[in-house]
Amino acid sequence: MKIVVGCSGAKTLAKTVAKKSKLPYSDLVVEKFPDNENKIRFKIPLKNKTIFLVQSYFGNISDKILESLFALYTAKDLGAREVILVASYFPYLRQDKRFKSSEGINALLIAKLFSVFDQVLIVEPHLHRFRSFKDFFLKAKKISIAAEITNYIKKNFKDYVLIGPDQESVQWIKPVALKLKTQPIILRKQRLTPKKVKVSKLKIAKRKARHAIIIDDIISTGGTMIEAAKEARKVASKVCFIGIHGIFAQNTLPKLKKFGTVVSTNSIPSAASKIDISDAIATTIKKFK
Ligand code: R5P
Repeated sequence: MKIVVGCSGAKTLAKTVAKKSKLPYSDLVVEKFPDNENKIRFKIPLKNKTIFLVQSYFGNISDKILESLFALYTAKDLGAREVILVASYFPYLRQDKRFKSSEGINALLIAKLFSVFDQVLIVEPHLHRFRSFKDFFLKAKKISIAAEITNYIKKNFKDYVLIGPDQESVQWIKPVALKLKTQPIILRKQRLTPKKVKVSKLKIAKRKARHAIIIDDIISTGGTMIEAAKEARKVASKVCFIGIHGIFAQNTLPKLKKFGTVVSTNSIPSAASKIDISDAIATTIKKFK
């Protein structure tokens, strides 16, 4: 028997996923002691069950990592048959090389830490220098939400051009562009510091449209989107940012709204979460025996 368990960062999403996949739902209880230690507890018997732990790693990421690992080991200890982590947003994947000498390659380290799960299902992971999970994280599988983004665009826009802010964004924009039968414009980005990026100039505005829809996987400081918007305005009068995972660190949302409308999914819940990804997750977990 399969059960969906909602962890601290993804309870609402997990409940919807359980409903759509017609599986029982239960909360993971997380208590904090005065000294900041955490304690987790399951509310249902787990013996011989397949547990889908749903979590989103935003905010206090380190606490959430520990919570998942404690939940995994406890579930196994209580007799669970399989524990599968479903990460609507999975962290650390952008740290995929030694940017400075002697620092850790944290994408590798997080893959190692989470390889204790029977399987890890990740919604639109950031795969850049490691092009595929086969290269470094064999337990992980990607859940694509290209269909959900495509539907959102179809419902809300008629005259548009799709823009990718950098080379990596091709992996998210290409499947959407294919479904919409359009050719995206891909800009080039150079990251100068964690908070500052430079985006290449659009030399000739070949196509004009009413809306420029800029698609990226993550919106953190918003620097990438803002720089891309400055270029996008050469081809369209209105800008819409679609960021799959809206982290919106450092008050990014109001800053971004000055440049255009902001849309993200509910992989990380926020005021911009307008695209629901629960169907994509439910479809994936329904395939497990
Ligand atoms: C990195 O290449 C990612 O795909 C995003 O472009 C990046 O994480 C966005 O970060 P920020 O919003 O801080 O520019």
